[in-house]
Amino acid sequence: MKEHKIFAACYDRMLASIEKKVLGRRREALLAGLTGRVLDVGAGTGVNIPFFKSASTVVLAEPDGAMRAKMDAKIPKASVPVETSGAPAEKLPFPDASFDAAVCTLVLCTVQNPEQALSEIHRVLKPGGTLVVLEHVEAPDEAKLHRWQHRIGPVWTKVAAGCVLTRDTATTVEKAGFTFSSLENLRELPGWMPISPMIQGVATRS
Ligand SMILES: C[S@@+](CC[C@H](N)C(=O)[O-])C[C@H]1O[C@@H](n2cnc3c(N)ncnc32)[C@H](O)[C@@H]1O
Repeated sequence: MKEHKIFAACYDRMLASIEKKVLGRRREALLAGLTGRVLDVGAGTGVNIPFFKSASTVVLAEPDGAMRAKMDAKIPKASVPVETSGAPAEKLPFPDASFDAAVCTLVLCTVQNPEQALSEIHRVLKPGGTLVVLEHVEAPDEAKLHRWQHRIGPVWTKVAAGCVLTRDTATTVEKAGFTFSSLENLRELPGWMPISPMIQGVATRS
């Protein structure tokens, strides 16, 4: 996969303010209680690492070498055992039913093929396994932001390392064979931000 060196270099600083105000406590709520073998898909610079508290092992899968280098630097601070992988979400090199939980935070917006990625996540999760998502999504049709997301989308995708603003991720998750036990529409980021419509969900693999 192509490396995004500038994106990797800027990522943590770009997110710092919204991590502090919003995303950090959302990550904590979703990740701290995950147990067993956990897969963090598209783990990026490893922002989730400090939030894993109860997992027996976390596998951090990240195909972009520049992001992975940033992630590697955070691994010494992990409080649970960690393994790494360069696998893309669409082709996970893990056996069927080999994980208790999977994590997608700000990644189903960026994977090339979210349907294939979720099909792979479904395959590697044990039946009854947990998928947690924290993702930005398309604004409702009637919202002003919906038009704005579509207008700036192509440029955004170029500068934000492939990120797509207009995905209906909750529906894609359900179509892949997951059932949400909780799904929240978050509107905590400033309304002008193209990534302000977000979802936080916990789903079970059927
Ligand atoms: C916006 S970052 C999110 C990183 C991290 N999950 C977080 O919460 O901060 C999106 C990440 O998805 C990764 N990515 C892109 N395509 C991918 C794919 N096909 N499979 C897995 N990860 C991918 C990117 O390299 C990048 O690290």
